[in-house]
Amino acid sequence: MTAMLEVLNLEAHYGAIMALRGVSLSVEEGRIVTILGANGAGKTTLMKTISGVMDPTKGQILFMGRHVEGRDPDAIVRMGLAHVPEGREVFPFLTVEENLRMGAFTRRDDIRADLDLVYDYFPVLRERRGQPAGTLSGGQQQMLAIGRGLMARPRLMLLDEPSLGLSPLLTQEIFAIIRRLNHEQKVTMLLVEQNAHVALQTADFGYVLELGRIVMAGSSERLMASEDIREFYLGQQGTGQRGQRRWKRRKTWR
Ligand SMILES: Nc1ncnc2c1ncn2[C@@H]1O[C@H](COP(=O)(O)OP(=O)(O)OP(=O)(O)O)[C@@H](O)[C@H]1O
Ligand SMILES: [Mg+2]
Repeated sequence: MTAMLEVLNLEAHYGAIMALRGVSLSVEEGRIVTILGANGAGKTTLMKTISGVMDPTKGQILFMGRHVEGRDPDAIVRMGLAHVPEGREVFPFLTVEENLRMGAFTRRDDIRADLDLVYDYFPVLRERRGQPAGTLSGGQQQMLAIGRGLMARPRLMLLDEPSLGLSPLLTQEIFAIIRRLNHEQKVTMLLVEQNAHVALQTADFGYVLELGRIVMAGSSERLMASEDIREFYLGQQGTGQRGQRRWKRRKTWR
């Protein structure tokens, strides 16, 4: 059986800058998979090429067995892949409910039940359904962005840094909902995070992306036990000068 998502040897460029240098990964149906990586590693570029916002220069992307590389983003949403972008990108002058309705743009059927489902997961959005999205807090806007993604009834959701700018408490809250959506609504999740702690607590499997390349892959338990991950992503031994020197000397990942 092939995985729900298969990415093979993907390359992407911004002009002369090569942001993805042959990325391969797979996401099995029903899983939560995370991609860890520092600023500029290429995480957002990877999400954008998978969802069709950006065209890869080389490589293949198979979603449910079908090639999607270079396809129109709307067609990819229709196939069941929703992308919740970095920085949320809600429409600030539209109301909460209008934003949610935008998420269902690919559908012609009745969306009332889906709105109710989103409001059940995020009660605060029901309370604020008539308010402009720009008046929501950062955490509420993140909830709205996820809710908007759900309106497409996705089988796979790409989440780009859902914890960005949120307090630890709110981050835990958002991730608890991500786990519930995975479990209860059977939405497979591919999430990009700089917050390795919460990402590895939530995910089954993880990849580490560095300068456009996957440098490590493994179950969350295995990654959490790795000395390099502990030192450089979980910060347990500090990232002080000693850590930085070791980082530079480092040849291989364990
Ligand atoms: N629009 C752009 N034009 C030119 N270069 C870009 C553009 N967007 C990203 N890049 C470059 O591509 C590389 C990967 O960027 P990307 O945004 O994918 O990283 P990221 O891992 O998502 O980083 P962050 O954690 O800061 O969100 C970086 O070197 C970045 O400078
Ligand atoms: Mg990014």
